[in-house]
Amino acid sequence: MERFFVTTPIYYVNDVPHLGHTYTSIVGDTLARFHRVMGREVFYLTGTDEHGQKIEKAAEKRGITPQLLVDEVVERFKGLWTKMGVQYDYFIRTSDELHVRRVQRIFQRLLDKGDIYKGTYTGNYCVSCELYIGEDSPVDAQGNRLCPDCGRVTETLSEEVYFFRLSAYTERLLRFYWENPGFVVPEGRMNEVVSFVSGGLRDLSITRSTVKWGIPVPGDPSQTIYVWFDALFNYLTALGYTEEGDPWKKWWPAQVQLIGKDILRFHAVFWPAFLMAVDLEPPKKIVSHGWWLVDKEKMSKSKGNALNPEILMDKVGPDGIRYFLLREIPLGIDGNFSHEGFFHRVNSDLANDLGNLVNRIGGMTVRYFPEGLTLPKKELDLEKEYDELRRLFVEDFEECRINRALEKLWGYINLMNRYIVQKEPWKLSKEGKNEELRDVLASLLIALRGVGFLLYPAMPFTAGKILASLGVEKTPSPSFGGLREGLPSTWKLQPLEPLFPRVDVEEFLAEKSEIDKEKKEKMEEKREEKTAPAEAQPPKELISIDEFRKAKMVVAQILEVNDIEGADKLYRLKIDLGTEIREILGGIKLSYSREELVGKKLIVLTNLEPRKIRGFVSSGMLLAANVEGKATIAFFPENVPVGTPIT
Ligand code: MSP
Repeated sequence: MERFFVTTPIYYVNDVPHLGHTYTSIVGDTLARFHRVMGREVFYLTGTDEHGQKIEKAAEKRGITPQLLVDEVVERFKGLWTKMGVQYDYFIRTSDELHVRRVQRIFQRLLDKGDIYKGTYTGNYCVSCELYIGEDSPVDAQGNRLCPDCGRVTETLSEEVYFFRLSAYTERLLRFYWENPGFVVPEGRMNEVVSFVSGGLRDLSITRSTVKWGIPVPGDPSQTIYVWFDALFNYLTALGYTEEGDPWKKWWPAQVQLIGKDILRFHAVFWPAFLMAVDLEPPKKIVSHGWWLVDKEKMSKSKGNALNPEILMDKVGPDGIRYFLLREIPLGIDGNFSHEGFFHRVNSDLANDLGNLVNRIGGMTVRYFPEGLTLPKKELDLEKEYDELRRLFVEDFEECRINRALEKLWGYINLMNRYIVQKEPWKLSKEGKNEELRDVLASLLIALRGVGFLLYPAMPFTAGKILASLGVEKTPSPSFGGLREGLPSTWKLQPLEPLFPRVDVEEFLAEKSEIDKEKKEKMEEKREEKTAPAEAQPPKELISIDEFRKAKMVVAQILEVNDIEGADKLYRLKIDLGTEIREILGGIKLSYSREELVGKKLIVLTNLEPRKIRGFVSSGMLLAANVEGKATIAFFPENVPVGTPIT
């Protein structure tokens, strides 16, 4: 049996799922369903990318362990996929013990082989993207190098790390692209990849000494494996790679690996090189889709423009969202989301074209043939057009042109709607032309059954309802059958609720703007509370113990005290936190001399966002009483160890 292995990227869990993530998963699910119907054995893999500094930081911010955080967020992803009808065959989590063990084995093998080696790396590191940034990235007015992806200021890091010998694969990669020009879809993106690799590749650092929440390097636990090395291998560890008996061989290489365009380089350059290093074939195709934008910006939680699919689902059900995302843009192109555009598409294509068609056919069959309708033996209207549609639909789907396939299907749905108007069955009934009336409804019924089959991959819930009302119990047969395949001779319809009630866009937007307004007002209230003078504030603002725990405070020792030119109240202090040495700035110069401070132990808040003051970055804050504008510090006695947490 032919096999089809399709994957989605594994999602970061520092964020809850939004409409952009939903897009990748729905495309994957739709392809998996299509290939199953085509009679292939399918494996649809998805999961979550749970390691790395972002997760570590997000957990720290909430005052919980990374494992607790990821366990919580993973449930959000799984819950959403269930509601959206995303039926995966396996859900991999990179914190799974099996994955960890398998990645460590791969690492060890490459180390033994010489493809991984230890060296020193110094570079500009973007904490947010977890990437070292090249020397060609932009620089801001203060001379800070900025991350070309997210625009944030990068940090200079120098560490002993392990490298993957990526440079050794430059030629092999170029040859592979040359021999497989269809490796990346759409074509234009293949050119981007080739030109990047042609510029020459540098070895890739694949471990970190600064990140704790990651897979430890075998035999060197001071290092953890870089998230992308860990994450990319999920596509193999999920199949049991490195286990005896080679279970993965059944599925590898993948036919389609779906990704967003932002992670193309990882999948089209690093991933095939990693695979070459372990002597495996690259995947057959990397399909790189575009982004969903809001007001021309990529949707993401950090920008505050992420759309929660559950709100839309309340109005239009999972299939409304699935249809819109799949139909609105070709794979590869960006789409701009607007609520107006969304509801317009759903109202016109789903409530009007499809919903009305189903209601009319159902209503007329029940009215005119309450005892059931027996199919005539002859060829019926709409059959030829269906065969042609089915052929083109399959062709489009095989090439991942889902929006084109749906466009054609809607062409047929509208043909059916026109057919009703043209044949006027109500007139045939009035005039007693029963045979003609039966033929018209029989044509419509079997055509609708065909539509139900073709709808199934993209809109499984709706297809199920339509087919059930027509008495079809099974989901589509292999290759979608022809219209005549397995046709029952007599049709008795089950009543069907309207599939897609029209959504009043104005009403929705008014409701939404009320909610947004409330949210905004609440936020403003909070802001005002913060900035209001002391007497205007509520007498006591209580915080929960969890909120308090978010503040990480420890006993720190002052190692060095330096002046800052031109600052008469500020000192620059080097402090020991027990786990690291940091620099903080403190407004204590008017209260203490340098000698009074060096060697002293005090409380420092360590998880405060770093701030740049007078050209120096302060990474933490010392705690002191403010006695009429003058700082008074509570010092600890000598015997309290540095690094002791304050709880
Ligand atoms: N964890 C990495 C992938 C590792 S795969 C070995 C990652 N995760 S992600 O959560 O940031 O993104 C996952 C997928 O969601 C990517 O394909 C990304 O392109 C997609 N989307 C996230 N936001 C998106 C939009 N606004 N629009 C469309 N898809 C986008 O990257």
